[in-house]
Amino acid sequence: MNADLLTRESLSQFAAEQRAAFEAELKTLVEIPSISADPSKAGDVRRCAEAAKALFERHGGQAEILETEGNPFIHGWFGSDAGLPTITVYNHMDVQPANEPEWVADPFTFVVDGDTYKGRGSTDDKGPAVTAFFGALAAQRAGVPLNIHFLWELEEEIGSPNFESGLKTHAARFKTDAIVVSDTVWITRGKPSTPAGLRGLKGFRLTLETADHDLHSGVVGGAARNPLSELIELVSKMMDGDTGKVKIPGFYDEVVPPSEAELAGWRNSGFSVETFKSDHMIKGMRTEDPMKVLKRVWGRPTMEIHGVVGGYTGPGIKSAVPARAEVKVSCRLVPDMDEGKTMARIRKFVKKHNPDVELHEEHGLAPFKGHVTGPYAEAIKDAYQFAFGATCSFTREGGSIGAVKTMEDVLGCEVYFLGLSLPSHGYHAPNENYDWEQASGGIVAFAHYFQTVSAFKR
Ligand code: BES
Ligand code: MN
Ligand code: MN
Repeated sequence: MNADLLTRESLSQFAAEQRAAFEAELKTLVEIPSISADPSKAGDVRRCAEAAKALFERHGGQAEILETEGNPFIHGWFGSDAGLPTITVYNHMDVQPANEPEWVADPFTFVVDGDTYKGRGSTDDKGPAVTAFFGALAAQRAGVPLNIHFLWELEEEIGSPNFESGLKTHAARFKTDAIVVSDTVWITRGKPSTPAGLRGLKGFRLTLETADHDLHSGVVGGAARNPLSELIELVSKMMDGDTGKVKIPGFYDEVVPPSEAELAGWRNSGFSVETFKSDHMIKGMRTEDPMKVLKRVWGRPTMEIHGVVGGYTGPGIKSAVPARAEVKVSCRLVPDMDEGKTMARIRKFVKKHNPDVELHEEHGLAPFKGHVTGPYAEAIKDAYQFAFGATCSFTREGGSIGAVKTMEDVLGCEVYFLGLSLPSHGYHAPNENYDWEQASGGIVAFAHYFQTVSAFKR
């Protein structure tokens, strides 16, 4: 191992030299619309897997596309020496749809605007993936004695429905000492954080049909049932729309409140409501108290109404009584909530209050409780400090990554997080972006992380 190539200066210089290559590789990936939610993009998802494989091969690594019952995995690696420790980096290569009207440029054209990179998937999660990849190249160049493996998923944004079965099929090739995931956000620029937990997610739809077709509201209105108003009534019994409080009996029973030590970490994380609002361009909040905001986003479950379908939505008013309606809902879950118990309570509640309403469940993700102590957690903190000169805080993440708990369960090893995205990068938002400050620092952070963990006893 050549330690001279692993100083902060040398690694920063490596990142600077590789900038054009980094941008070219990220451009190739961002310009493939690998939207897992859109069946018509299956060909692009496949092309993305092939482009990712080619990326490894261009830079002296090896890669294989592994089939699952859904979209494939990409397994890329540098080294597979049984005498060396192994670290596996997880990212996802699929992206959210990008049909928001606010996009100012084509979402699948990679735009370099100074230090900013724009395009769907630039920060979630192709930019962090390519950053970790260049971090591995830096470690390789210096001869760090470590097998560095990559597992890139192509169904994360639809809840990883085939991840568990796929990972079980291919588990033998993913023997690893630890996993590091780069798919999370900092508090804000200059304030790194690494989650000690993720929320889970459970989506469901409520549907109601009360007639064969839409009816004249002057002829039948007053006597005929209205499915739209009944669903709105049901939803307002389920939750308080102003405060967000869920009124389903027992909904909060299994919630484990954050410990005092955890709360102290949150308090010192550098979080500010003002920055949160401006990073996300939020106009109104349910509370402006910073600790209440953090508890709500990281420590408490939610029920969110995502969509109401039904009735007339054209210009003006059409005075019909709709025949059918649908409400799209999901709940974020926190430790130790259980998807099955939660849905049983919701099902019972719906049946009691409107037995004609049908409840359709989506694939769910369990909440995840992470690790904040031990050498691998220290290595993460150390990597941020080394690369960015800033102390990272252990927080939680309000979002969900289906693969995380599955990797721990199936591979029997621990998952840690070395995220690089910023709130202002706009996960899932129009004009999603990433930037060179996070990428170049991230390359240094990953290289240093690989060096640190290469010395761990197995
Ligand atoms: N990278 C995010 C997860 C995330 C979100 C981490 C917010 C930190 C903060 C991931 O790509 C994601 O968007 N997950 C989805 C999963 C869902 C579509 C099944 C989520 O959380 O909604
Ligand atoms: Mn992501
Ligand atoms: Mn996402």
